[in-house]
Amino acid sequence: MNYQWYPGHMTKAKRMMQEDSKLVDLIIELVDARIPMSSRNPDIDEIGKNKFRVILLNKADLADDRGNALWTGYFKEKGLFVQEVNARLGKGIKNIQPLVQEACREKIERDRKRGIINRPVRAMVVGIPNVGKSTFINAFAGRACTKTGNKPGVTKGKQWIRLNKNLELLDTPGILWPRFESQKVGERLAMIGSINDEIIHADELAVAVIGFLQDKYPKLLEERYQIALNENAYKTLEEICIAKRCFLKGETPDMMRASRLVVEDFRSGKIGKITLEYPEEWQ
Ligand code: G4P
Repeated sequence: MNYQWYPGHMTKAKRMMQEDSKLVDLIIELVDARIPMSSRNPDIDEIGKNKFRVILLNKADLADDRGNALWTGYFKEKGLFVQEVNARLGKGIKNIQPLVQEACREKIERDRKRGIINRPVRAMVVGIPNVGKSTFINAFAGRACTKTGNKPGVTKGKQWIRLNKNLELLDTPGILWPRFESQKVGERLAMIGSINDEIIHADELAVAVIGFLQDKYPKLLEERYQIALNENAYKTLEEICIAKRCFLKGETPDMMRASRLVVEDFRSGKIGKITLEYPEEWQ
């Protein structure tokens, strides 16, 4: 598979992120729970090196419970504050405020010693496209949408959402560019839909999804489509095509339609809760 790559976008995003990060104490980084490492941009460690950090395993509803637990342990071990989230349904959101306070304890203590009480922690949300940043900001800030900033005369003022007296959130998320370090990572990003579909052949992607599922979650695949699996993933796709009656005129199999169906079913969780990568691969 071939992925497009825009160095110009990357440089711009990085510059913006570096600027914005100067304004905050804490970085809330969203990753996709199905591919927590492949959906992470390692440059965030450099950009956020003097910041407090929280990592959210978003779309935890689409990932395997065992995978979520293992990844939570993995990030905790690395000294990060971590939480599983389903931003769409608002699950896990209520645990974030206490987590933020815990992550920033050092700053809060430092302020207190200097006699500064109740200076809010300033935070920003970052992540690669489509990871759920806007959905999360809406769920997290939801009702508490008192916007501050943008004072008259200040042209480039930032908008802050004041959640309460302890926390302010930059209202525009930081966009991180996906990592493209290997074929494997690119393929996983494509599977979850983080790479523009127009540049990837649907059937190649469907075969990659089926190949993975046959290996790791064969039962889920069989149950979803009521088919017998074939060792060859393309042949399994053909089976699915027939089972789902994806036909062109004259009962000619419409493999492209079947491919889009499989990919869509996978992305929306219809096949089941699936984790594409585990910590053991990323030690
Ligand atoms: P972004 O700002 O990081 O680019 O992502 P955004 O919030 O736009 O979310 C991208 C897609 O992911 C949206 O779906 C959103 O609903 C979905 N999403 C976000 N968080 C979660 C989650 O925790 N679980 C699940 N299952 N989905 C989540 P969409 O199809 O683009 O839009 P829509 O169908 O919600 O309208």
